Amino acid sequence: MQCPTDATNLYDNDVIREPWPYYTRLRDKGPVVWMEALGNFALTQYDAVRDGLRDNETFISGLGAAADKFGCEFQRGNAIASDPPRHTTLRNAIIQPLRPDQISKLKPQIQAAADEIAADCVAKGAFDAVSDFAQTLPLRIVRDLVGLPDLGRENMLKWAGAAFDVQGIQNERGKKAVENIKEMRAFILREATPDKLKPGSWTHRIGALAASGELDPELAPFAIRDYINPSLDTTISAVGHLIFQLGNNPDQWEKLRANPSLAVNAAHEAVRIGSPLRSFARHTSRDVEIGDVRIPKRARVMMIFASANHDGAVFPDPDRFDVERRNARRHLGFGAGIHMCAGLHLAILEIECLIHAMIEQWGSFTLGTPRVALNNTIYAYGALPVELGRK
Ligand code: HEM
Repeated sequence: MQCPTDATNLYDNDVIREPWPYYTRLRDKGPVVWMEALGNFALTQYDAVRDGLRDNETFISGLGAAADKFGCEFQRGNAIASDPPRHTTLRNAIIQPLRPDQISKLKPQIQAAADEIAADCVAKGAFDAVSDFAQTLPLRIVRDLVGLPDLGRENMLKWAGAAFDVQGIQNERGKKAVENIKEMRAFILREATPDKLKPGSWTHRIGALAASGELDPELAPFAIRDYINPSLDTTISAVGHLIFQLGNNPDQWEKLRANPSLAVNAAHEAVRIGSPLRSFARHTSRDVEIGDVRIPKRARVMMIFASANHDGAVFPDPDRFDVERRNARRHLGFGAGIHMCAGLHLAILEIECLIHAMIEQWGSFTLGTPRVALNNTIYAYGALPVELGRK
């Protein structure tokens, strides 16, 4: 059968601002669609995306995970854009401090920081949910855990955003990102030396592994990038979606306040409905058939996590935010298979702690007009005004 086609450029500003109708159209066309404007195939429906992510021998990452050739070549080499055995080595190097047993030890520290941040918002009364709330916890906690010498809030946000812009295509955003990423790479090479890394931090551990010969020193900068690039904007985006959804669905906020044990489910539901990382790509290592459509070897295939997460065949009434959704945790917002998000336990814990802090300290709240941030990969609010009511 001919592959269904679609002319949408998924990196146009209008699509980035409101992608959901486009994804619905793509899913309706079939599990695989040829994206004319991008020269890529796209997997659109839940089953196709999940199965593709799990089949990492057919859908490989080592040729890059961006949506165009330049981005793929520029970003190759870190865990997200590599295959075994290199991927296994990198993943083993970075995963230890991100395992659930290690992350759970951080809970008191993260909850204390979340409580402070929620209290600051109460003191303000009216604030921006992105810059005053969502950004603060990842920047405070993750920056310290990563342990690079004084990166500065602005640098970390700029570099993380740039890494995701270049994962799209080389439109103006993609091109601009390249300079910022070069700056980050130079910083890592210059500053990530054993004497400058914070003792006990994740990057210090990578330095020690490289020094002891357990990790090839050539791989160390890639492992460090794996901590910096994906750990901020993703979580910040998810928290923005959480606030947006709770603000627009006061009944769900009331349910959460009445039953705080729903916090983890609500965190997953925020990741599902907002899908911070819209899509990453793979390349086919062989000809492959999905349904009646044949994708040739060496094709670039976009895995649209966000579209899969709104597939009504798996998530009934998919555009509805439901803190009690029974299968909320089946979402593909953290991916699946060998590249499944290495930081998901940290991300969920951060969101869970923020929810508990909100339940303790906030009453009802109303939202002003939100603004979607324009990034090639991350779907996030750039601004989200909030006004707190009485507790
Ligand atoms: C809500 C927050 C987050 C979301 C939605 C998210 C999403 C994702 C997704 C979809 C992937 C899979 C990419 C692929 O299959 O190509 C991924 C991979 C990854 N994430 Fe996350 N992420 C989040 C938070 C974090 C945090 C906090 C960290 C680090 C501390 C992190 C580190 C990583 C790493 C290292 C990978 C690559 C894993 C590999 O290739 O083996 N992420 N993330």
